[in-house]
Amino acid sequence: MKEKEAKVIIRQKKAELGDKLIILGHHYQSDEIIEFCDYTGDSLELARKASIIDKAETIVFCGVYFMAETASILAPGKRVYIPDPSAGCPLADMAKIKDVEHAWQFISRITRSITPVTYVNSSAELKAFCGRNNGAVCTSGNALKVFEWAFKTTDKIMFFPDKNLGRNTARLMGISDDLIKEWDPEKGSGGLNEKAVQAARVILWKGWCPIHWPEFSVSDVERVRKNYPGIKVIVHPESDPKTVKASDASGSTAQILNYVNSLPKGDNVAIGTEWNMVHRVSKKMQPDLNAIPLKEVRCADMAKITMEKLALTLSDLGKAHEVKVPDHVARDAKVALEIMLKV
Ligand code: 13P
Repeated sequence: MKEKEAKVIIRQKKAELGDKLIILGHHYQSDEIIEFCDYTGDSLELARKASIIDKAETIVFCGVYFMAETASILAPGKRVYIPDPSAGCPLADMAKIKDVEHAWQFISRITRSITPVTYVNSSAELKAFCGRNNGAVCTSGNALKVFEWAFKTTDKIMFFPDKNLGRNTARLMGISDDLIKEWDPEKGSGGLNEKAVQAARVILWKGWCPIHWPEFSVSDVERVRKNYPGIKVIVHPESDPKTVKASDASGSTAQILNYVNSLPKGDNVAIGTEWNMVHRVSKKMQPDLNAIPLKEVRCADMAKITMEKLALTLSDLGKAHEVKVPDHVARDAKVALEIMLKV
């Protein structure tokens, strides 16, 4: 199918379905897809939107699988479709539920005063695990608030699966590095002993987002500062804590957009996150700024959502991929997700 043909089909189907359909799109989607989205946002905004959808019976999610799964859990009774179910998240895949349960058994024998918190970039099963164990889900937009919530009731947090977001958030709380330990699922007992678990305030699952880590480095920040004196640098908190420290600010994709929108015309700004969003900021959203990518890094999974696949999904929802989460998993995951929406 040619792009032109796909555009015609998408327009036609949107008109036919009217307010029975809502298309949600993450900021990392291409301009071509964003053009057809009724609502765009970061993970938190999209989850919030899904949870309050009223009229629409059908949600088509242009993003990666865990985002569509989250929408499906938060919008019971709606049908959620993703144009390509193979659009996954390597970070989410780094915490397998079996390994998590093994780790939790080991750690719970040493301490009961620990709350499991998972980043939204995780499987529905891991979210459900947190729901069953008095834990919560967070996004990069509210990780600090969720950490503060967890520390109200327990001494420690176990954070899955992004070690960088976990350390960056712990540092924001003033927790020193010697109180942050990493659980390596490749090692027996995670590479930790009883003493290390007892000493820890935060235990981080050893996972990372390959788009942000180790991609955005301190030397990238130094390079743009040298080339553009006075440049502002903002990065996503899935980046290396050293890079975050060397930058002027960090935040979720929506927080990055807010930061960029607050800069005066003509400023230079380097943005450390997925290229599609940086490109859109520079060409369309803030053409009066000199917004450059800290480095050109693209998410191959986000790019799997194409106009052709969106057109095929809308043309025949009966054949399209509907995202379904088993009831018992959705029930427990929703408990943890609702805390994410409430804090
Ligand atoms: P945001 O919540 O910042 O949009 O995170 C998206 C993401 O998965 C970053 O890799």
